[in-house]
Amino acid sequence: MSDTTAAPAPGRAATPVASGAVGPSDPDQPVRPRRVTITVEGCGSATATTEERVLVALERAQGFGQLRGLPRKLPVGCRRGGCGICRARVLDGEYRITPMSRAHVSAADEAEGVVLACAIYAQSDLTLRLETPSLGKAKGPSAN
Ligand code: FES
Repeated sequence: MSDTTAAPAPGRAATPVASGAVGPSDPDQPVRPRRVTITVEGCGSATATTEERVLVALERAQGFGQLRGLPRKLPVGCRRGGCGICRARVLDGEYRITPMSRAHVSAADEAEGVVLACAIYAQSDLTLRLETPSLGKAKGPSAN
C-alpha cells in the first residue's frame, strides 16, 4: 500500500495540472520543454524547464549564487517525494505533481498548494515559499 498521491486540486491561484494535460494539441508532435522562472519568496529566482523537477532547478540556481536570500543551504534529502524536507507552498503558477508522501503533505495541505519541491514540475512561472521548519521560521510571519 502506498501513502503517495498525485491528485491535482484545481481552482486556486497555485494550480496543479494533471499529468499529460500540458502539451501540443497534436499527440504526434513531441512536447518541447519550455523555460519558466521559479521565484522563491524572499530568496531569489531560478530558471527551469517544464520537464525538470523544481528542486533540481533550485539546486542549480543556488550553485550559481542566484538564491542569495536563502538563510542556509537548500534542504535536499531523498529527492523522491518521501522525506518531506523540501516542503514548499506554491503561491502562484501552475505545476504538475508526481507522487508525494502523505506523511509530509496531507490531502488538505495539497489542496492549499503545499508540495514537495522534488515532486513537482513547473508548467508556468512559479512563485513558492519554502516551508522546511528551520527555513520557514527564519523567513518571518509569512511562513507557515
Ligand atoms: S528531498 Fe525528500 S521529499 Fe523532497
